[in-house]
Amino acid sequence: MKPVILDVDTGIDDMMAIAYAAHSPELRLLGLTTQFGNISSEVATRNTLYVLEMLGQGDVPVYAGASKPFRRADVLGDAKHVHGEDGLGGALRGASPTGRAGSMTAAEFMVDQVRRMPGEITIIAVGPLTNLALAIEADPEFVSLVDEVVIMGGAATVPGNVTPYAEANIHSDPEAAAFVFRSGLPITMVGLDVTMKTLLPRTRLQEWRSDGTELSRFMADAADFYMDAYENFNPGIGGCALHDPLAVGVVIDPSFCKIVAMPIEVDTEDGAPALGQTRVNETGTAAQSPSIHVCVEVDAERFLAHFMSRVV
Ligand code: BDR
Ligand code: CA
Repeated sequence: MKPVILDVDTGIDDMMAIAYAAHSPELRLLGLTTQFGNISSEVATRNTLYVLEMLGQGDVPVYAGASKPFRRADVLGDAKHVHGEDGLGGALRGASPTGRAGSMTAAEFMVDQVRRMPGEITIIAVGPLTNLALAIEADPEFVSLVDEVVIMGGAATVPGNVTPYAEANIHSDPEAAAFVFRSGLPITMVGLDVTMKTLLPRTRLQEWRSDGTELSRFMADAADFYMDAYENFNPGIGGCALHDPLAVGVVIDPSFCKIVAMPIEVDTEDGAPALGQTRVNETGTAAQSPSIHVCVEVDAERFLAHFMSRVV
């Protein structure tokens, strides 16, 4: 069992990633860390606690993290138009969790855990990279104590989703992303190159609806909302992208993707159209464009079958 910390901004596809991870015997969830991104940090924390309780995993600790970017004073925006006011497409129906977040911050928890288990922990980061940046800044040895970081974010070979250049998680905190990418952490990037190919078709929702469990109902309601948003931006797409679940999938079985090392830089130029872009820079120095493991192809059919067999 691989010990993992899942860093989320829960979010509909984050919720799917949590359920997929919680139901996967290859992984041991040490804790979940939350932050701003799709919605505020408070809402992300509430949603994460609620989803874990619904999964019967209320004993997995949750730690609240960043409520604003690493270097900027203000949040650049949210994704309520994709994930709903409650972040879960209205599926919460006003419910709230019974548990509370732990007393450490997300970054403190990450540091604490990698110090207890040096070289063993995989961090799966599926929101902005702010908590990770704060952990690196807090502990000079953090980078050498982590086994691997798998991030959902960025794009190396395809356009962005929040702007023509940038993917949402990187765009939410470009300075944190640049700091994390240049830190020397062993990073695998699960970006739009592959996640836009792992679509959950709307036709599959019927399987969850006919299941009749609270979890399946919740998953179907939230996914319905998410698919409507996808249809708005990509008419005719017929489903939604399984961004965050694919990052979990790559930790369970890296052979879902073809992974290639590439020199990647993050655009942090304020006001520039490409702010938050992750691009391949063959001519940059290793400090500017460190080599990152980038997922460039995915066996979408095999991944989707695996995800569907576990998520509810
Ligand atoms: C990423 O942005 C968020 O909206 C999703 O949860 C995912 O992590 C996709 O670009
Ligand atoms: Ca996310």
